[in-house]
Amino acid sequence: MTTFGKPAMLSWSKLKVPQGTTSTSEGQDTPKAAESPKNSLVHPNTTVVESESAWRRENDSPSPSVEELVSDLGASVLGSSNQSLTSSIINYVYENGRRYHAYQNGKYWLPNDEKEQDRMDMQHHVIFKLVLNDKLFLAPVREPKNILDHGTGTGIWSIEVGDTYPKAHVMGTDLSPIQPTFVPPNTKYVVDDFSLEWLGYSTKFDLIHCSLGNAFSARDWKSFLVESYSHLTPGGWVELKDINIAAMSHDYSLPQMSAIRIWHGQLLEGAATSKISLQISPGDLEVLFQEAGFVNVTIKEWPLPIGLWPKDPGLKKIGAFQSQVIHDGLEAFSLAIFTRALGWDLIKIEKLLEEVREELNNRSYHWYWPFFVVYGQKPEGR
Ligand SMILES: C[S@@+](CC[C@H](N)C(=O)[O-])C[C@H]1O[C@@H](n2cnc3c(N)ncnc32)[C@H](O)[C@@H]1O
Repeated sequence: MTTFGKPAMLSWSKLKVPQGTTSTSEGQDTPKAAESPKNSLVHPNTTVVESESAWRRENDSPSPSVEELVSDLGASVLGSSNQSLTSSIINYVYENGRRYHAYQNGKYWLPNDEKEQDRMDMQHHVIFKLVLNDKLFLAPVREPKNILDHGTGTGIWSIEVGDTYPKAHVMGTDLSPIQPTFVPPNTKYVVDDFSLEWLGYSTKFDLIHCSLGNAFSARDWKSFLVESYSHLTPGGWVELKDINIAAMSHDYSLPQMSAIRIWHGQLLEGAATSKISLQISPGDLEVLFQEAGFVNVTIKEWPLPIGLWPKDPGLKKIGAFQSQVIHDGLEAFSLAIFTRALGWDLIKIEKLLEEVREELNNRSYHWYWPFFVVYGQKPEGR
């Protein structure tokens, strides 16, 4: 089953984009199927802080279990005990003034420092408060007992889910142990790489969630869904939320030679060179869900307007916040890809980013990023 989201305040129709479709107007960046993002973005000048866990994986030794990688932040993880974080996980990598993860160094291209954490939390606010009206997930999961949030970031979603479902166990995974210590007692974190085989999970989950995973380092979404299937309880759900990094405009008001379009073009080019996919269409994901055995696959889509251009007050508010998210994130989005993959120097990058920042205030540019949610169910009795 495929449905298309039509929430009261936010709809494609308000932007005059046909509902349930992805705009493919000429000259626009068109979301396309994800390639296998086998990320290899390690800058030649970057100090590689080797992670014990990564070392063990690379050396064909058994992958670290959840117990081995459990962060010391959140007590036990589904029955395992506390352990200190190994230094190899917290010996972060510094490059161009930003801080990056150490475990699986180079796999994920955004920083993990406080500036980026603030940006992630603001993006969470846009998606969960303003677009999804406080709904943490849309899949019809009833009384979940075990919930897994892959790529949990600052852990904000898992904390809210832990508070909302006090009887559930919530586990968040991430390459970076950047989650807070003050979390609900049922919410735990582990440092793990979900793009590798999912080992060490002693529990099956009723909901596996991943938001903003497009920029992740999943082997590919197919593998993610196959792993999810085998780690779900019968009748359990997997839910993916994502943004396509594509400068879309329903009325062609965003010029081809705008800094915004140039920036998107360069970013996508650098990402493609690095085998990172920043775009996937929900329709392609739907096929992958079905191929992995999921049923009741549902797609919902919204435009995320950027800037103060929408007339509708709800969309204008989203546009204001989303513009700030991009403003604050431009450097983080750009540095690794532009320097490592495109060979740009910092002065050249900053010049382009300054132009993009200025254009973010241009109300005659009516543009947006497509946001979507796709969820599907493992059949009962499987
Ligand atoms: C864009 S942030 C999104 C965070 C959070 N899900 C949210 O919506 O606020 C992506 C997060 O995924 C993590 N990540 C990227 N690749 C990962 C991987 N292979 N395994 C685990 N976490 C990963 C990053 O460290 C980062 O914290």
